[in-house]
Amino acid sequence: MADSKISEEIKERLPVEQLIGQYVPLKKAGRIYKGLCPFHGEKTPSFTVSPERGVFKCFGCGKGGDIFDFIIEIEGLTFPEAVKLLGDKAGVEVPEWKPTGQNGSTPSGPNRARLFEVTSFTSRLWNSILTKHPKAEHARTYLAGRGLTPETIATFQIGYAPYGSATGTSLQQAGFSRTELQAVGDPTKFQDRITFPIADLTGKIVGFTGRLLETKDDPRGGSSRGPKYWNTPETSIFVKSRTLYALHLAKQEINKKGFAILAEGQMDVVMLHQHGYINTVASSGTALTIEQLKLIGRFAPAIVFAYDGDSAGIEATKRGLELALQQDLTPYVISIPNGKDPAECLQKDPELWKKAYENRLRGLDWVVEEALKNAPRPLPPETKKALAKELIQWLTFVSDPTEQADWFLRLAAKLETNEQNLRELFRRIKPNAPLAASREQVTSNQPTTDPSLHSLVDTSIAILLTFPETYPVLKTQFSGPAIVSHNPLFTKLIPLIQNIPADSSLEQNIESHLNDDERKEVALQSEGLLVQYGDIELSPSWAITELSLILQRIRTESRDQAKSAISEEIQRAQQLGDVEKIKSLFQELQNLIY
Ligand code: UTP
Ligand code: MN
Repeated sequence: MADSKISEEIKERLPVEQLIGQYVPLKKAGRIYKGLCPFHGEKTPSFTVSPERGVFKCFGCGKGGDIFDFIIEIEGLTFPEAVKLLGDKAGVEVPEWKPTGQNGSTPSGPNRARLFEVTSFTSRLWNSILTKHPKAEHARTYLAGRGLTPETIATFQIGYAPYGSATGTSLQQAGFSRTELQAVGDPTKFQDRITFPIADLTGKIVGFTGRLLETKDDPRGGSSRGPKYWNTPETSIFVKSRTLYALHLAKQEINKKGFAILAEGQMDVVMLHQHGYINTVASSGTALTIEQLKLIGRFAPAIVFAYDGDSAGIEATKRGLELALQQDLTPYVISIPNGKDPAECLQKDPELWKKAYENRLRGLDWVVEEALKNAPRPLPPETKKALAKELIQWLTFVSDPTEQADWFLRLAAKLETNEQNLRELFRRIKPNAPLAASREQVTSNQPTTDPSLHSLVDTSIAILLTFPETYPVLKTQFSGPAIVSHNPLFTKLIPLIQNIPADSSLEQNIESHLNDDERKEVALQSEGLLVQYGDIELSPSWAITELSLILQRIRTESRDQAKSAISEEIQRAQQLGDVEKIKSLFQELQNLIY
């Protein structure tokens, strides 16, 4: 295990706000920094960073800790890996940590640092072959023909993997072992392909995608050469569902613009960046995932789909819209005419692209336009029925009642029917609408405790420990039934406070019961008070009032949660016809509604 002196030195050299600022846009708020939490979806910032204490804390999801905890969480590293990574950044030498073998490898494969060495070496190799090697002339011609400039090729480190075994040989000569080559994938699969390195959020290369060259005098012929794009298989550093092509180059602009452009392919991204749309990314090599959307959500609240204009692209857009709406990202769609993709459109007709970009529609507007695009007029009854059924399902995503009412009106007009019919239809299909169902699935995967309850509890702890004057209030408030709390610190504090002797120094008495970790936690919580109540003067009398209100809400919330849990059990018992069980559950429910 790395020496704690080493980790202390790293902490000293890497200010927490700078490190975290590379992942999360942060704003200064007094003595701390605030931002949108990278670990859960949120629209108002409850993620805080305290430079003085060198820690972060999210009051929404409860995650917190020092720079190592942050890196472990966000990069999915182990502690020694995090120390190594941050050591490199800080210029602090970290002795190799050897978990099992002699050479720093674990039984499950080569270590991540080595894999990154392989990818970075390969990227430089392929890029220099593309830009300099006589055997890459046709590749250079091809890329120039597609409209890429040398600057773009440099920015994206685009390369060319030559025919034959040259790549594998170079890697072996550089001292990389067979297993370490997995960071690239079978080099022969890449031969005679244009290569695009895929990077993580920090710009480190995690894998490659290789595009077939379309050369007329191809010595090996067409289809025998495999798929148009060949991607590095997943490795411990390349998790496709969590990777977005070019995000490291686009993240700041995404944040600045307030939205990300999402394209289908590497070529689209590269061309869009070249034309100044540097907030563009792509989900390379996989269908769009929720994790990728969450990643985008860290930087902006909106997303613009710029998929291919063919039927596959339209279907993928619909799926993407559904996922984005579930993630509370506001989606827009750019429709490119004639089935083109952004790369082709930009190269052949930049004005047409610009028009399509400026005329982008809000997600649901696009869905309606798309559905009605080819419908005959006036709408035949059968078509009307089918369209109504299809479109009404999208309204399950519109939770605001005013907005929903507006949609009923607009849809009714578009479908030449009346609003009442649509509302009736909506009521009937809602319970088992496929869109609604998938939405439930998403929510049920989330932790069972309501995050708002979490943050209420966190806030109450912070107030409690900052203002010992509040203890008497708490004492009486908790004479009633116990509250449900998943916060161990809170559970520990309640009896301490209730049993505190009247004449002792309150603050010291409590603090002495806490261990180091708990004290650290408490310090973080108090720091967060400043964020939440920044504009209010925090006084003991304020604390007492606020705390009573919060405790009230905690109690209601936890009771509601308990009630709905019991109700669910009652339903299950009713299905099973278990009369005894039903009776006792009703009794429990009664007890809750005191
Ligand atoms: P496209 O076929 O639309 O490629 O696939 P493209 O980006 O337009 O490429 P060009 O313009 O013909 O050169 C879109 C994306 O889907 C992935 C790649 O990431 C590609 O960029 N893909 C496609 C694969 O992973 N494998 C394939 O065989 C094809
Ligand atoms: Mn395409």
